[in-house]
Amino acid sequence: MPTIKINDVEMSVNPGTLVLDACRAAGVDIPHYCYHPALTPVATCRMCLVEIKGQPKLATSCTTTVPPAPKDNPEAVVMEVFTNTPGVADARAGVMEFLLMNHPLDCPICDQAGECKLQDYSYSYGSGDSRMAEVKRRYRYEDLGAKIVIDKNRCIHCTRCVRFTREISGGSELTVANRGSRLEVTTYTGKSLDQNPFAGNVVDLCPVGALTSRDFRFRKRVWFLKRTPSISRHSALGSPLWIDHEGNTIYRFRPRPLEGRNDTHFISDEERYAYARYNRPDRPVQPLLHGAAATGDAVSEAFQSAGTCAVIGQGTFGCDAAQRLGELASAPELRYGSGEKMVPVVLPKLQTSADGILNRRGFTERGFRFGVLEELLARIERGEVKAVVLLHDAAFSSVRETDLLGRILKAAPFSLALEVEASDLGRRATAWLPLASYVEESDFIVNHDGELRRYQKALEPPKGARAMPAWAKALAAVPAAV
Ligand code: SF4
Ligand code: FES
Repeated sequence: MPTIKINDVEMSVNPGTLVLDACRAAGVDIPHYCYHPALTPVATCRMCLVEIKGQPKLATSCTTTVPPAPKDNPEAVVMEVFTNTPGVADARAGVMEFLLMNHPLDCPICDQAGECKLQDYSYSYGSGDSRMAEVKRRYRYEDLGAKIVIDKNRCIHCTRCVRFTREISGGSELTVANRGSRLEVTTYTGKSLDQNPFAGNVVDLCPVGALTSRDFRFRKRVWFLKRTPSISRHSALGSPLWIDHEGNTIYRFRPRPLEGRNDTHFISDEERYAYARYNRPDRPVQPLLHGAAATGDAVSEAFQSAGTCAVIGQGTFGCDAAQRLGELASAPELRYGSGEKMVPVVLPKLQTSADGILNRRGFTERGFRFGVLEELLARIERGEVKAVVLLHDAAFSSVRETDLLGRILKAAPFSLALEVEASDLGRRATAWLPLASYVEESDFIVNHDGELRRYQKALEPPKGARAMPAWAKALAAVPAAV
């Protein structure tokens, strides 16, 4: 590996590494706008300039690579980079002044305020002055379809959004039109971003507030939001997410990129907007027994006297839930898996699985068998199984599977459904218990690649709703004698 020096500190890096990446690995922050690890470097913003010994001009660190070491001297220092010289500071201040020339001073009403790279870098590297005496260029807000709004006044022409639609989502809906001070990011005539199922990512990619989400616009100042690491339940990928929430309400889901994993920078719009489903603190949480309100203890007592028990776990819950549910089964072979959702693969380079069941692998590792629910129905009909416990979310079962589950619940002498929201199927069970949703508990899953992904509790569950492990403990406990 060649050796380079960054601000006189030596380090070894692979040949071909971008100088910007080498600096980041060395803990040296390089300001940048157009660079993005998942996109082709284009060096349009000029913010990442560094000094390289022996080169007459400053170089863009996002496009300069570390050369290989000479064969006869592998220990030689192949490059000396300086990021803290007066020349670099001067260049950064000049670039900031240039980028802000036409930028409006509308931070108080801009959604990006608080997470805006223009604000951050202006404060850290800007000069604080502007020599712009001319009238600033002006555009009106434009809708790029129903999901995205563009404010071209704020755009700094980094082209991240344009490259995303070309290189990642593939629809090429966005382009750069005109030249000079009239340069603008726009859509090809007649195209909007509505047909792009990954369009929401352009909002995350935009380092300033030019592209905003119709869904999040003006709803919350970002500094009031708390962020909790979580995952998406959309598919077996278990894409890492940030849950941004405040006051027990979720305001948005955002990708949570993992170091060195370019595929984790982006999520589909279906995953992004799924947060609304979990903002239900007012949902019914009354346990039911034979269709009437009951206590958890009464349900527990009825369950314990029911006899041989089989469990059906939908693979959309966490591994801890699977483990505790599995322990309620009277025998290991009485653990059945459910969940038949499939997701259309529209972007194979991001979607490496069509399986819509998040934790199928984690459930399988805990002894749950998928695709054999008919076997359970036959066992019930033969009188071998007297009770069924169903862990369920109606959104992930097909019509066929829901029908089969309904026949199982009907055939079982005793059935108990645990759900976040009571479905038509759940109401058919002898007893029903309210569950905390996945944003209201901490657990982990094993995704389809075998990677363990954790998620943490973001919201408080409504009073009465409990996570599966808590219900399993209550169901297994012997009720106290009165
Ligand atoms: S809209 Fe945002 S992401 Fe697109 S070019 Fe402008 S600043 Fe960059
Ligand atoms: S980040 Fe290097 S030129 Fe924009």
